[in-house]
Amino acid sequence: MSTPPERARFLARDSFIELTARERAVRVLDAGSFRELAGPFDRLTSPWLPLQDIVTQADDGVVIARGTLEGHAAVVASIEGAYQGGSIGEVSGAKLAGALELALRDAGRGRPVRPVLLLETGGVRLQEANLGLAAIAEVHAAIVALRRHVPVVAVVAGAVGCFGGMSLAAALASHLIVTRQARLGMNGPEVIEQEAGLAELDALDRARIWSLMGGEQRYATGFADALVEDDAAAIGAAVRSAFASAAGGAPRSERVASLSARLAAIDAAHPPEPAALRALWARETGA
Ligand code: COA
Repeated sequence: MSTPPERARFLARDSFIELTARERAVRVLDAGSFRELAGPFDRLTSPWLPLQDIVTQADDGVVIARGTLEGHAAVVASIEGAYQGGSIGEVSGAKLAGALELALRDAGRGRPVRPVLLLETGGVRLQEANLGLAAIAEVHAAIVALRRHVPVVAVVAGAVGCFGGMSLAAALASHLIVTRQARLGMNGPEVIEQEAGLAELDALDRARIWSLMGGEQRYATGFADALVEDDAAAIGAAVRSAFASAAGGAPRSERVASLSARLAAIDAAHPPEPAALRALWARETGA
């Protein structure tokens, strides 16, 4: 019996989503170039989680790695979605902000380092509240400063997605890559259901959630720059080409006039369904 081409392609793919944060960083960087900074043996763990009887992780759920991308110096910050939902606390947030700030210092000295963010996160770590928020604000500031020197490339692959303050980090990136399995939104489904009720959103309704905030919808409505397969080689290639294509044009977050015009076309009392939103906000390609 012959295998349909899509099934054969699906079976042949080398899933990026199934990789750990560390494996993702290894696979994105040029082969053999991965070198971890502030790694597990440095034991930079959250001081706040043990006070809440939560087991810490030796890297606090964020992997920072230096290496190269097509021979150019690069830094990858990769969030482990499997640890505390990829949430950002004081330590993991400081690792992210510190990596970006060092890249900014290097860029200022004329030695640009290509920054890549592999985002898989439920946002601010609720158990570390204000400290996580403060760290995420530093991440935002560093992205905005750094993208003036070198494109900041972000990837949301799945299975957690990217939410809360870190969804703003994705929005600030010069170039955002998503897969069909990705989710991207300010409020996660759990929070929407909890705060606005089941009638607003059923957090178990996967089809509805992906139709609203899934990677395909975010790409089709212009909130992501590339939609790629869940395949390590495809994502690595998309990251490399992003550094070439993201060089020109204003970052999305500076396109205030076109974003305001999009909002003005919507009647908030009767918000459009996902398909209608795609027609209304068809993605723009240029700046
Ligand atoms: N802080 C702390 N823990 C978090 C978290 C956060 N911001 N986001 C997720 N988690 C934890 C969950 O509590 C859960 O922990 P448990 O396994 O001990 O129960 C774990 O991560 C996995 O989350 P879960 O909801 O079971 O997985 P999911 O794949 O169904 O959904 C999210 C993942 C991120 C979409 C969902 O958890 C969500 O909507 N989170 C809220 C996102 C948000 O609005 N953040 C804004 C915070 S300011």
